[in-house]
Amino acid sequence: MRIAVLGGDGYCGWATALYLSNRGHSVAIVDNFIRRQWDFELGVQTLTPIRPLSERLKIWKELTGQHIDLFVGDVMDYDFLSTTIQAIEPDAVVHFAEQRAAPYSMIDRKHAVFTQVNNVVGTLNLLFALREFQPDCHLIKLGTMGEYGTPNIDIEEGYITIEHNGRTDTVPYPKQPGSFYHLSKVHDSHNIMFTCKIWGLRATDLNQGVVYGTTTDEVSMDEALINRFDYDEVFGTVLNRFCVQAAIGTPLTVYGKGGQTRGFLDIRDTVRCVEIACLNPAAKGEFRVFNQFTEQFSVLDLAHMVQAEGKKLGLSVEVDHIPDPRVEAEEHYYNAKHSKLIELGLQPHLLSDSLLDSLMNIALKYRDRIDSAMMMPQVNWRQARNDRQPQVGAAAAVSGGAQFETVGVGAEKGNGNRAAKTAKLGADHSKR
Ligand SMILES: NC(=O)c1ccc[n+]([C@@H]2O[C@H](COP(=O)([O-])OP(=O)(O)OC[C@H]3O[C@@H](n4cnc5c(N)ncnc54)[C@H](O)[C@@H]3O)[C@@H](O)[C@H]2O)c1
Repeated sequence: MRIAVLGGDGYCGWATALYLSNRGHSVAIVDNFIRRQWDFELGVQTLTPIRPLSERLKIWKELTGQHIDLFVGDVMDYDFLSTTIQAIEPDAVVHFAEQRAAPYSMIDRKHAVFTQVNNVVGTLNLLFALREFQPDCHLIKLGTMGEYGTPNIDIEEGYITIEHNGRTDTVPYPKQPGSFYHLSKVHDSHNIMFTCKIWGLRATDLNQGVVYGTTTDEVSMDEALINRFDYDEVFGTVLNRFCVQAAIGTPLTVYGKGGQTRGFLDIRDTVRCVEIACLNPAAKGEFRVFNQFTEQFSVLDLAHMVQAEGKKLGLSVEVDHIPDPRVEAEEHYYNAKHSKLIELGLQPHLLSDSLLDSLMNIALKYRDRIDSAMMMPQVNWRQARNDRQPQVGAAAAVSGGAQFETVGVGAEKGNGNRAAKTAKLGADHSKR
């Protein structure tokens, strides 16, 4: 299949692009590298030293003989995106290219606006480009389990059948998102569902849980292919943070009581779920929703698992409860369905001791790169403005109206043809 991976320089996108390429699909990556700029803006970095994308792709080609095309540009730039879709002619588009950190969207007005514009406009542009130029293409969109919130009833996979005043209907499951970022995903879902209805597009919304792990078969082929491992308070996910804290002997920071329960999955399952969705496309006009996670844990469960694993490695790990910077239930009912991907063939990698051990060993291996100051929460949901100062010299990813403008290299506004060509040239150049 011809598959476009939007956001292919990011954590899930990179692993997915390599996995699909290794499985014989023809893959093209679209990215504007803004994720790397956010690191500069916040003064944080991935624990693992990731290489520039052009270098990663060159090494991938050398190792496997597989070429991955690269289109550098911003999905908010319709000329760039529509030209790129015409150039790739994809059978499936996997859309990861969004701002995905809830704390980032809660820093202040500018970050909330940027997150919603980037995510909602990017997805809208993609829907229009597909309608105009590739109407049979299957859109696989990364949503999040956070769209549902934590209702006091079971969470269904996308839809719920309800009886009301003697009548019955199947309707989208109610959404109660917990941040401006999660809200952007809900807006996306509505836009996608609407265009499936009015234009007959086909789409799968993958409501993904929290992803952990860095290694897949492909990423581990060479150190130069290493994936991101984010552990900072804004982009880092909880299990990564705990492993890093354990590695340097600082207490694990559990927010509040730690009863916050979420769905989790291994990055190896993320890539497989995406492939399963590609190989089993939604029907024309269908807006299909899968809950993409394999296990549920509370934050405190994870802290205790890391503590136990740390003990086996000879580390003394303490657990601290600190005030919760988020507005969320610290203890609640949580039971989310997640059977559709299993029915289509997913065989989950569960969070075993050996995986925790490997995560902690990554944290130990790159211990010298750990900055403990990056882990304490500075973004408080209760405030409309958090004075989280950008680092001096950092790229101002959201400053000066960047939210409405192209940030990516090679994506010139109003000159989409040239933008795509420039970007493609960049890709060819990187092959040498
Ligand atoms: N990582 C998780 O645990 C997780 C959980 C649930 C859902 N998701 C979803 O999966 C997707 C990918 O997440 P991730 O962790 O890989 O994020 P990431 O930040 O590592 O990667 C996102 C990529 O998209 C690119 N991008 C962002 N905006 C862009 C734009 N306007 N134009 C072009 N490229 C752009 C970034 O440069 C980056 O490379 C997101 O949509 C996220 O909401 C992730």
